[in-house]
Amino acid sequence: MRSHHLLGAILSIVSPSVSAPTESARAPRHATIVSRQTVNSNYTFIIAGGGIAGLTLADRLTEDANVTVLVVEAGPFDQGQDGILVPGAYAPYYYFWPNLVTVPQTGLKNREIPTIAAQVVGGGSVINAMVYLRGDAEDYDSWGALGNANYSWKNMLPYFKKSENFTAPSAALAAAGNITWDDSVRGHSGPVQYSYANYFYPGSANWWNAAKEIGLKPTKDPMAGKKPGIFWMPSDVDATTGFTRSTARRNHYDRVTASRPNYHILPSSMVSKVLFTGKRATGISYVPTAGGASPSSVYASKEVILAAGGLNTPKILQLSGIGPKKLLNQFGIPVVEDLPGVGQNLQDQPTLTVPYTFSNNLVPNSGSLMTNATYNAEQRALYDGHQPSAYSIVSTLSTNIGVLSLQDATSSYQQIVKEAKQQDPALSLPADVDPTVLRGYRAQRDATLKQFESSTIGVGSLHWGTADSALVYHFKPLSRGSVRINSTNPLDNPLIDYRTATDPTDVKVYTALFRKQRQLFSAPSMQALGPVEVAPFGGNVTSDEQIAAVMRDQINPSNAHQCCTAAMLPRNLGGVVSHEQKVYGVTGLRVADISHWPMQISGAPMANMYGAAERLADLIKKEYCLAGACSK
Ligand SMILES: Cc1cc2nc3c(=O)[nH]c(=O)nc-3n(C[C@H](O)[C@H](O)[C@H](O)COP(=O)(O)OP(=O)(O)OC[C@H]3O[C@@H](n4cnc5c(N)ncnc54)[C@H](O)[C@@H]3O)c2cc1C
Ligand SMILES: *[C@@H]1O[C@H](CO)[C@@H](O)[C@H](O)[C@H]1NC(C)=O
Ligand SMILES: *[C@@H]1O[C@H](CO)[C@@H](O)[C@H](O)[C@H]1NC(C)=O
Ligand SMILES: *[C@@H]1O[C@H](CO)[C@@H](O)[C@H](O)[C@H]1NC(C)=O
Ligand SMILES: *[C@@H]1O[C@H](CO)[C@@H](O)[C@H](O)[C@H]1NC(C)=O
Ligand SMILES: *[C@@H]1O[C@H](CO)[C@@H](O)[C@H](O)[C@H]1NC(C)=O
Ligand SMILES: *[C@@H]1O[C@H](CO)[C@@H](O)[C@H](O)[C@H]1NC(C)=O
Ligand SMILES: *[C@@H]1O[C@H](CO)[C@@H](O)[C@H](O)[C@H]1NC(C)=O
Ligand SMILES: *[C@@H]1O[C@H](CO)[C@@H](O)[C@H](O)[C@H]1NC(C)=O
Repeated sequence: MRSHHLLGAILSIVSPSVSAPTESARAPRHATIVSRQTVNSNYTFIIAGGGIAGLTLADRLTEDANVTVLVVEAGPFDQGQDGILVPGAYAPYYYFWPNLVTVPQTGLKNREIPTIAAQVVGGGSVINAMVYLRGDAEDYDSWGALGNANYSWKNMLPYFKKSENFTAPSAALAAAGNITWDDSVRGHSGPVQYSYANYFYPGSANWWNAAKEIGLKPTKDPMAGKKPGIFWMPSDVDATTGFTRSTARRNHYDRVTASRPNYHILPSSMVSKVLFTGKRATGISYVPTAGGASPSSVYASKEVILAAGGLNTPKILQLSGIGPKKLLNQFGIPVVEDLPGVGQNLQDQPTLTVPYTFSNNLVPNSGSLMTNATYNAEQRALYDGHQPSAYSIVSTLSTNIGVLSLQDATSSYQQIVKEAKQQDPALSLPADVDPTVLRGYRAQRDATLKQFESSTIGVGSLHWGTADSALVYHFKPLSRGSVRINSTNPLDNPLIDYRTATDPTDVKVYTALFRKQRQLFSAPSMQALGPVEVAPFGGNVTSDEQIAAVMRDQINPSNAHQCCTAAMLPRNLGGVVSHEQKVYGVTGLRVADISHWPMQISGAPMANMYGAAERLADLIKKEYCLAGACSK
């Protein structure tokens, strides 16, 4: 959640060194890292992208010994650096996708803004800020109501539980820190390890008590489908390994390598397109991510599954001839299927940093690891000795957070909804939008405005890392952006346009969240620390217009939660995939990654991606009677 701090680092990325893979041309008894030279010519399933969705599916599908799976991943294996595995040493820029930048953002003073996505085996789970939260019940029920049969919180909950293994904090920490949960909604035997940091900064109590002073209430369990309130943030730390990160590479590949000769990963290789025989997907072509070689092909007897993330799955579809006809024609790409929704409907969760100085802040705080070498050495020794330590908290973050419904944020919520309903939805989309995409957007907009009137679903969140800034997140933008190829070279990045804050409602919601942040810092328990909000905000920035003007300068359009660019919606609503995540108009092709979401959820994506991939794995197993799915 702190990607804004990392943006400076994006410019200093060096090519990560590639580990020497274990190569073998003979049939091994364990899962294998293959190369261009040793990869087989065909597999049962080919998965394009080895991130959260890709590796979860590969693990579950290879449970059937008769199935072979190849995962083709653009990035390398990580080297187990502290910056990846140790929360308090968080610095994951080795595996940022190179040179990603937006087109000028018209709602944000035409800034061209560096943006982040993962390029590594394990995808976002290797480099993200480790916040592990599900969406709220109304998120999934809304997806169901948008024409996705059987999609609901009730049907997703078993998959969330299947995906994870929760380790409870010690009773003493839970009591001292105000950690609460409901064990019945938590999974206890799945592969993703998660728990809580085992330490907290004293200032967290000031924040917690101030939140209560302005009327926010503790939420017993944020994983139970109704987040609004304040709570500790679950984190995908592995309590059995001394609080290191539980990545998809570790929990869905390393965990099973010994027993899966049918599970292959081809790293550092970029899928360039899906190959078709008529309308049937039969394989993929790929090139080395480093360039310098012509494309190679590999074939799938059952399906190709795209799992390349919210920015790259639409790019692969477009390069393959599936997308808006006009765009494909522009690049001379033969049209396999004219699907106007591909690359439309881009949504993220913008972030805003509000800087403060303090006359009386408490130490230690999250800045102390940087400013106090003695404290740093002491905490690192405790962490290495598996004792409670600040190193169990992701660097610059703290342990608790507040999620707000729109009525938590402002008493004018009904007015905001009323004004949004009066606005023509077409004004929130590019002028040349396809009519089906516009119809789908209208349906999404109605669903979101219904959520805005509910007290049990979040629209944004407030966090204080206990040092020099507060963070305000916006979960539910009405603005919609796009991803479009800019050339036919698979190594070129697409044009990324978030169109953040182009819908006026988004600015009103964000202003309400910002004012709530101010109110929280004005409550007695925070005032005890002497906070002073400073430039570019500050005491002279008071009217809605002044706040909006500074926000347009400061908002980061992305928290690296890019989604919804191959949306699971009916085709006449601009959808790209069915509720079984099959791409419309062709056979043998699905989308597994976050691109398939119709809309953003009131949380962070990771836990939802693990759960959604478990659901999809079951659908596929049932369809082909794999791993005993039909004999149950
Ligand atoms: C810096 C950062 C911080 C974040 N913080 C949080 C957080 O705290 N909590 C949270 O819940 N979420 C967080 N997220 C978001 C979360 O990690 C992602 O939403 C999630 O990983 C998406 O899962 P996915 O399976 O859809 O795609 P990903 O996990 O992104 O995987 C996609 C994979 O596909 C590969 N790929 C792309 N194109 C190709 C191609 N052409 N050929 C082959 N491979 C390709 C990529 O290299 C990548 O490994 C963060 C993300 C980032 C980057
Ligand atoms: C699939 O690959 C195997 C070994 O790599 C080969 O023997 C077989 O002929 C291939 N089948 C097809 C349909 O290409
Ligand atoms: C694998 O295939 C063989 C031969 O078709 C069959 O007998 C066996 O039951 C299959 N195994 C599984 C796990 O489906
Ligand atoms: C919905 O779920 C029910 C019960 O699990 C199942 O019988 C039915 O086939 C599902 N329908 C769809 C369209 O997936
Ligand atoms: C779940 O976590 C506990 C530690 O709390 C560990 O002992 C157990 O082995 C884990 N189970 C799985 C399936 O990972
Ligand atoms: C926990 O809650 C109690 C009671 O409201 C409060 O006194 C205490 O400061 C809180 N501590 C933290 C770490 O939130
Ligand atoms: C630095 O950390 C040490 C060890 O925790 C502590 O004793 C000392 O007071 C700290 N110094 C400052 C200036 O906070
Ligand atoms: C898009 O392509 C044009 C023409 O090749 C190039 O000048 C421009 O830099 C590209 N834009 C991006 C964002 O890559
Ligand atoms: C507020 O004051 C700061 C610092 O003096 C200044 O930079 C900023 O432009 C002022 N903002 C407004 C809206 O007046």
